Amino acid sequence: MTRFTLPRDLYHGKGALEALKTLEGKRAIICVGGGSMKRFGFLDKAVSYLKEAGMEVELFEGIESDPSVDTVMRGAAAMEKFQPDWIVAMGGGSPIDAAKAMWIKYEYPSITFEDMCKVFGIPKLRRKAHFCAVSSTSGTATEVTAFSIITDYEKGIKYPIADFEITPDVAIVDPELAETMPKKLVAHTGMDAMTHAIEAYVSTAHCDYTDPLALFAIMHIQKELIPSYNGDMEKRDTMHNAQCLAGMAFSNALLGIVHSMAHKTGAAFADYGAHIIHGAANAMYLPKVIAFNAKNPGAKLRYGIIADYMGLGGANDDEKVKLLISYLRHMNDELNIPHCIQHYGADSYPTEKGFVPEDVFLARISEIAKNACSDACTASNPRIPTQEEMEQLLKACYYDTEVDF
Ligand SMILES: NC(=O)c1ccc[n+]([C@@H]2O[C@H](COP(=O)([O-])OP(=O)(O)OC[C@H]3O[C@@H](n4cnc5c(N)ncnc54)[C@H](O)[C@@H]3O)[C@@H](O)[C@H]2O)c1
Ligand SMILES: [Zn+2]
Repeated sequence: MTRFTLPRDLYHGKGALEALKTLEGKRAIICVGGGSMKRFGFLDKAVSYLKEAGMEVELFEGIESDPSVDTVMRGAAAMEKFQPDWIVAMGGGSPIDAAKAMWIKYEYPSITFEDMCKVFGIPKLRRKAHFCAVSSTSGTATEVTAFSIITDYEKGIKYPIADFEITPDVAIVDPELAETMPKKLVAHTGMDAMTHAIEAYVSTAHCDYTDPLALFAIMHIQKELIPSYNGDMEKRDTMHNAQCLAGMAFSNALLGIVHSMAHKTGAAFADYGAHIIHGAANAMYLPKVIAFNAKNPGAKLRYGIIADYMGLGGANDDEKVKLLISYLRHMNDELNIPHCIQHYGADSYPTEKGFVPEDVFLARISEIAKNACSDACTASNPRIPTQEEMEQLLKACYYDTEVDF
């Protein structure tokens, strides 16, 4: 038996934020990030819609990018004090993910972060509050997923919390919120969405319900991401739906080792002054992982189907895999994303000498590979790498060398 879970309600289209008026309850806490929602007026609108619904409203502001365990604990304490029956998380993946973890801690005050990270081990939620997610970036699709990614900065590791319990009750996919994204954010979140759809399509947990969502998302992202990046607002709007469809696919089909590697490299060099941003990490690693996975005949066939849906040509599956890899690399070029860690600057743009020094990368590679192999996303990858293969893959992602093993 396999489970397929999505939010109970999804409101989409311009102005969908207004659906907040339909929530029923006494107290709502709004969780937001660093200020973009306030700056563009969306936070004020949300507050007034919730007040119109008769609710008392409190804000939990300032959730940082790649949220920490500490922020989760602070947010849960604020919830414990205010006792909301609705948690409304607004913004990109970071504030929504943080709010999901706060929700668990609010419902179960004695739960530890380690307990939360036990895959599909979250106890029943919704005894105190329901959850509404309003996404402002077009990538993570956390508004519809069963995941939350929290960073343990002491260990320099991102941990996925995974359980259908944290799939939101209500998702609001209002493209007006995505229109204010700066270009770099469009690029990174868009390639994150492409990676979600491709990994979901070749995952060992894919099924008839997830396949159409993944393929449809891939075709849309192929057509829409680059024009959206270059300022086409109609395409920006439809990309907001496409990333959400990709999220519906991967929340149920799970992901693969592109994400395992992105989770475990993202914060691993924070002591050298930057993160490898989630979407950029995925964009760099995806072509390498496709070459690795395509050694598995089942995965090769499915990459071939993806290439066909994208209209890339190719006379056989080997050619189709090559064309898919080069198309994705061309997308990275168009989106100003480097091809490898060696050329990844602290500002995320391509540069001759990236912020991760070679000797530091090589000194940490064995630990990172070990962590990536045990990441929750590895189990559903179509080819399970050994520690040695994972190290080789990471090296290919550092130097941009060909993967032929
Ligand atoms: N839960 C999941 O299923 C899932 C999936 C993939 C990634 N993630 C996680 O999500 C996080 C990344 O989320 P993200 O890529 O959405 O970015 P983010 O939430 O970290 O936001 C990045 C920056 O963009 C700003 N911003 C957000 N929306 C904006 C808008 N509309 N206009 C202008 N500025 C805006 C924010 O203020 C912030 O400074 C990472 O921690 C990643 O690991 C989660
Ligand atoms: Zn992702």
